[in-house]
Amino acid sequence: MSLIKKLGISIKRKPIKREWLGLIEEYRNWLPVSEQTPIITLQEGGTPLIPLESINQLIGKGVKVYAKYDGLNPTGSFKDRGMTMAISKAKEAGCEAVICASTGNTSASAAAYARRAGMRAFVLIPDGYVAQGKLAQALVYGAEVIAINGNFDLALDIVRELSEKYPITLVNSVNPFRLQGQKTAAFEIIDFLNDAPDWLCIPMGNAGNITAYWMGFEEYFKENKSTKLPKMMGFQASGSAPLVLGKIIKEPETIATAIRIGNPVNKEKAMEVKKKSNGEFISVTDKEIIEAYKLLGKEEGIFCEPASASSVAGLLKCKENIPEKSTIVCVLTGNGLKDPDCAIENNDASFHSKVDANTTEICKIIGF
Ligand SMILES: Cc1ncc(COP(=O)(O)O)c(C=O)c1O
Repeated sequence: MSLIKKLGISIKRKPIKREWLGLIEEYRNWLPVSEQTPIITLQEGGTPLIPLESINQLIGKGVKVYAKYDGLNPTGSFKDRGMTMAISKAKEAGCEAVICASTGNTSASAAAYARRAGMRAFVLIPDGYVAQGKLAQALVYGAEVIAINGNFDLALDIVRELSEKYPITLVNSVNPFRLQGQKTAAFEIIDFLNDAPDWLCIPMGNAGNITAYWMGFEEYFKENKSTKLPKMMGFQASGSAPLVLGKIIKEPETIATAIRIGNPVNKEKAMEVKKKSNGEFISVTDKEIIEAYKLLGKEEGIFCEPASASSVAGLLKCKENIPEKSTIVCVLTGNGLKDPDCAIENNDASFHSKVDANTTEICKIIGF
């Protein structure tokens, strides 16, 4: 008998921390992969569900709101969930190059995963409308960046045509493997809450993500992993709201450049999600987006992209209609560091510059 046992001392062991293997390994049985699929991963997924106390208080009614902070993925956005699948499957098929159109995040993610898989990555972006951080990422990850004189919708038409004519795989959300990977965020939410939320609030651009979440919620529900399906609340910026207005927007405009999309490729699928979930699609102004963006930063310590803040802006806009004691998840799709220009222009902080480096001056500012 060991001395510890003889002395009657009990040692509480810390649970062994298991390494997160990336979403394909974590949810292998739910994804179209086999032993032959080479898994290209940066250990994406497993992002936190963070309680938003200040939002709970603004809404009242015993409502519990969480942020699914997908800005903590390896390249800083939810796109990594889809990209690990799309690039793994492209690698399995022997592909040597991928292409995408992007408002920024897809290009960063495609570049990172493609280069990790030893492939070339071509990315088409609307010149002048991609946040600095995202452009920096695509360049550092070694993408071949082509900035066009045209918007995202035009870029997408071009890459679709090129991928049909040449041996180059399209990795926008029309690639079905993208949505397969992205649906795992819904699994994670249910695994964490032990049930589906009552509402899921999500920004919409091409509407791939809302479609993927719904797929995940439905799949888990069918396997009795949840007792209900959420109401899917999709939000768009008011200057770029084709799904709310039910028509193509030729010249979409919004501060939330990630969702500056006038002709969403997944519109039929999104409309189906809205119908099946008894959901709603609502637009929020840039002003409302920035208010939510600032609130998340200064009250919750969460720095997200303006596009992501539209989920919280939208929730606050319909707060009168939220049923008592609901559990709500707002998806924060991207990290705020991606768009430093927006952050520097839109905050309520006091910033004293060119201050003399002595305690007297600094005490004056602090107020002592
Ligand atoms: C940060 C961010 N949020 C939301 C979206 C919209 O996602 P989806 O196009 O799947 O609707 C995007 C798309 O680029 C994005 O980058």
